Amino acid sequence: MTYVFTEADITTEAQRLRDQSAALDPLTARLLRSAGLEPGMRVLDIGCGVGSVTALAAEAVAPGGHVIGIDRSDEAVAGARALLGDSNDVEFRVADANELDGIEKGFDAVIGRMVLVHVPDPVAVLRTAADHVRPGGVICMHEPDMTYAWTGRPTPLWNHVRDGILASFDHVGAHSRLGRNLFSVFRDAGLSDPEQIMEAPVGGGSSSPAFGWANAYAALRPLMESVGIDIDETVPTEGLTEALDADAAAHSGTVIGPLMYGAWTRVPG
Ligand SMILES: C[S@@+](CC[C@H](N)C(=O)[O-])C[C@H]1O[C@@H](n2cnc3c(N)ncnc32)[C@H](O)[C@@H]1O
Repeated sequence: MTYVFTEADITTEAQRLRDQSAALDPLTARLLRSAGLEPGMRVLDIGCGVGSVTALAAEAVAPGGHVIGIDRSDEAVAGARALLGDSNDVEFRVADANELDGIEKGFDAVIGRMVLVHVPDPVAVLRTAADHVRPGGVICMHEPDMTYAWTGRPTPLWNHVRDGILASFDHVGAHSRLGRNLFSVFRDAGLSDPEQIMEAPVGGGSSSPAFGWANAYAALRPLMESVGIDIDETVPTEGLTEALDADAAAHSGTVIGPLMYGAWTRVPG
């Protein structure tokens, strides 16, 4: 499956991931602690992008821990190294989560955020991930559902942006409601029933997460244009965040980011 954001240039994509992380990292940090990451653990972060979750995991397992972030994109791995370097605490490698070829086994935990949503067979990737966890270790995933209303009261502008993003995900076969299905993905991968949590960035005015949707729309617009997904030419490319916020403020004011489902369990000992 083509990564849906492939047509965005890597500098823009790296910045989009960093901006997105500002909204999601507090949720992911809580999830990792709930899942049982603790000092001294060795952790594998699959689909690490530019390393935001790798860095959160490194904080959770310090002192004495070590986190390897893998991504199939050379450019993402180079971006992660540029931001965080390879050190005693973190290390980045190019690898495909479908196979994890060349990646050692026996990790205390395997984690990932917003990666199963982008693979053709999430169950197979989770099974491969679990195969790299030591008996009794943790497997923990943080995945979105984007198929609910993104504003307190949807408007034509919000509907257009939402429809364009979801149509782009559908076009490449990405799973825009994967978070909601994480429980069955764990079961189908042969894992025991996971514990779960669901949180979302939410706010209005200065704490609105509209920037995340605006960034995603801007990054996906080249794909929409190339595959013929309907684009309303009156939707601004510059200032879309402000336009979405103004539109929300004129109605209910509430803006909702991706619903982030966390699921974790232990691999049988
Ligand atoms: C939405 S980004 C999330 C990055 C990071 N986990 C975060 O939350 O900031 C998804 C990442 O998964 C990577 N990816 C997609 N399919 C992959 C695969 N089969 N193996 C490894 N990485 C993959 C993409 O290259 C991209 O960097």
